[in-house]
Amino acid sequence: MNCPHFGQCGGCAYPHQDFWQQLADKFQKFRQEITPVLGPGQSEILLAPRACVNQLYYRNKMEFAFGQSPDGQPLLGLRRKRSFREVVNLDDCLLFGPGLATTLNLWRNFIQESNRPVYNLYNHQGFWRYLVMRKSFSTNQWLNILITTTPENNFATVQQKLEQMFKKLKSNFPPTSGLVWLLNDGLSDTATGKIFSVFGQEYLTEEIAGKTFLIHSLTFFQINPPTLNLLIQTINDWVKNISYRQRALDLYCGVGLLSLFLADWFGSVSGVELNPQSIQSAIENARVNNQKNVGFFNADVYEYLKKGQNNFDLIVVDPPRAGLGKKVIEQLLKTNSPTIIYVSCNPRTLADDLKILTPKYKIKKIQPIDFFPYTPHLESVTLLTL
Ligand SMILES: C[S@@+](CC[C@H](N)C(=O)[O-])C[C@H]1O[C@@H](n2cnc3c(N)ncnc32)[C@H](O)[C@@H]1O
Repeated sequence: MNCPHFGQCGGCAYPHQDFWQQLADKFQKFRQEITPVLGPGQSEILLAPRACVNQLYYRNKMEFAFGQSPDGQPLLGLRRKRSFREVVNLDDCLLFGPGLATTLNLWRNFIQESNRPVYNLYNHQGFWRYLVMRKSFSTNQWLNILITTTPENNFATVQQKLEQMFKKLKSNFPPTSGLVWLLNDGLSDTATGKIFSVFGQEYLTEEIAGKTFLIHSLTFFQINPPTLNLLIQTINDWVKNISYRQRALDLYCGVGLLSLFLADWFGSVSGVELNPQSIQSAIENARVNNQKNVGFFNADVYEYLKKGQNNFDLIVVDPPRAGLGKKVIEQLLKTNSPTIIYVSCNPRTLADDLKILTPKYKIKKIQPIDFFPYTPHLESVTLLTL
């Protein structure tokens, strides 16, 4: 892709490599990680990767940082390649969406006129920290999530100015649907915080494969909605061949995305998730889709399984990059679920986890799906049976 920020911005790993060549290289690495688990003569289990639907503008979320140039101008963009603190001023980002430049420029002007300093990661002083942008592909709503430290004074003035800023963003870029102001006084470099004010709407509405999802400012949602359909399709194709479909369990369920699709196939579905805000959204999403056969539990997966859960005809797991780990797998093995579907965004931890699962389970198929072009990551979904 022809990105003007190539060589400086640390956002993409392979901005200049051909889209198909990248996928071939990532698949080759994926194969290297997974082959030792498959064993000799089993290579046909690993299916050819499915490509990302959009070659550009595939992301629905970006985390931009505020910074300052040596001559004191506010910067807003991604961190410089191999630098944790320097910010590259972005005009546009070919991963997120045309129109971004208008929003970023308005914010830089706003910060310049604010008389409040940008947050400094060396001394942890300053006010403006991050701007997280989220958007919906189906409704074209754009959500601005501003993260600052807590102002020492003049809360009301900041609030008033942000309200004016929201109006300005909306009149210059009509897809703007909301501005959420979060406070974060923590020392770690993470673009999150506690909601303090909302201007406009706090959530986005997204449609995936005929279902509606409300995505709140602080909840996880898969990053690549156009390609997400391929994951849903793959799971649906595998699930419809399961002969007995009474109970399904969706572990690490987030806002209930996979649970709601499983609910079309199973008598009942339970979803388990640690983040209480995601559970709230999952309940809301079940209601919006009129899906009455799903229930959600706000719990740690290990603690949930340790209570001796069983009698599930299918268990779907979709853990964070760190994978399931030995403790969770020990509990998972005790469930004796006849089928497990493992959704993974990290082939290294997937391979480690499959090593522990495979003495008991057989790997039937592994389908890689390219959710993250221009990065080294490759999503995959694995079908395991007893
Ligand atoms: C990769 S996301 C998958 C979400 C969901 N399956 C989806 O497709 O939208 C992983 C989810 O696991 C949750 N999580 C992380 N650690 C957890 C734990 N120990 N117990 C339960 N949920 C956890 C995160 O909050 C996040 O929502």
